[in-house]
Amino acid sequence: MTDPTRQAHTDTSGSQQRPDAEPGDGQADAAPNTPAYSDIDLDRWREYDHVWTDSLWLIESRDATGGHELDYHGSFVPQIATQSLLRYTKGDDIVLDLFLGSGTSAIEAQRQKRRLIGVELRADLVEYVRGKVRPELLGDRIRLLHGDATDEAIVGHVRRHLSGMDADHAQLVVLHPPYHDIITFSDHSADLSRIDGLPHFLDGFESAARHAFQLLEPQRFAILVIGDKYARGELIPLGFYCLDRMQRVGFRTKAIVVKNIEGNERGKGRDSNLWRYRALRGGFYIFKHEYVMVFRKPS
Ligand SMILES: C[S@@+](CC[C@H](N)C(=O)[O-])C[C@H]1O[C@@H](n2cnc3c(N)ncnc32)[C@H](O)[C@@H]1O
Repeated sequence: MTDPTRQAHTDTSGSQQRPDAEPGDGQADAAPNTPAYSDIDLDRWREYDHVWTDSLWLIESRDATGGHELDYHGSFVPQIATQSLLRYTKGDDIVLDLFLGSGTSAIEAQRQKRRLIGVELRADLVEYVRGKVRPELLGDRIRLLHGDATDEAIVGHVRRHLSGMDADHAQLVVLHPPYHDIITFSDHSADLSRIDGLPHFLDGFESAARHAFQLLEPQRFAILVIGDKYARGELIPLGFYCLDRMQRVGFRTKAIVVKNIEGNERGKGRDSNLWRYRALRGGFYIFKHEYVMVFRKPS
């Protein structure tokens, strides 16, 4: 299997000329021609088949390489972290994940030689992720914080750790909040999966989004992974409500990717006949997609 994090190899054939290049513009002698926010060498753009640019992601199965494993109900497929870090960070950049969960982004940061600060409300999970990260990176390049992403105190807490890493801001934000009450993650009153009522959930999410905005470097990107839900026979477009909250705190929307949720299910197919019957009876469609939304903080 091809390593999705591999670097493009050197090609001196001249066949990699980028579409906007003028003949004889001396690309070969120049420093790598990368975007300001990634290590993708645009002069060798044909070599980046492993970096996705289409807005539809049909992922056959979870990546189980590089330390990734399915050990948490509610984790995202590692490919989301892989693609986000490849596309929107440079080596040694700091990723801030305010809903760390089982640490998929931390494992990917370790693999791609990025740094990371992760925040998670469940102390047991923070300890669990600590056990998965290479010990020499902990407390230095990878910092795992027990905290509440919706509480304003998290901004100062993260800033102290940024300062300990000689930085003022993170260069990429990852937000994978609970999809409201679809999965309950803990008994903690600040847990977004326990918040009663959609407006209160959205207000809590908006607080986390505002903290993310404050901690992100201008011109850099934020990734929101979110799905919709049904309640009382009605579709609740949670993804679009959260997009609205991201915009309200100042983010500009860059992209909406639709990805399948196959390959991220436990007991796949187990209840499919029942759901199909219910869908046919109730006139709805069974969710097979969620969103990877991309935002940018303006300068
Ligand atoms: C959808 S999961 C994230 C999964 C993660 N992306 C992974 O791959 O493992 C959401 C996580 O947010 C945590 N959480 C809920 N409310 C929170 C809050 N107010 N602050 C920080 N974390 C919170 C939950 O405990 C849960 O682990």
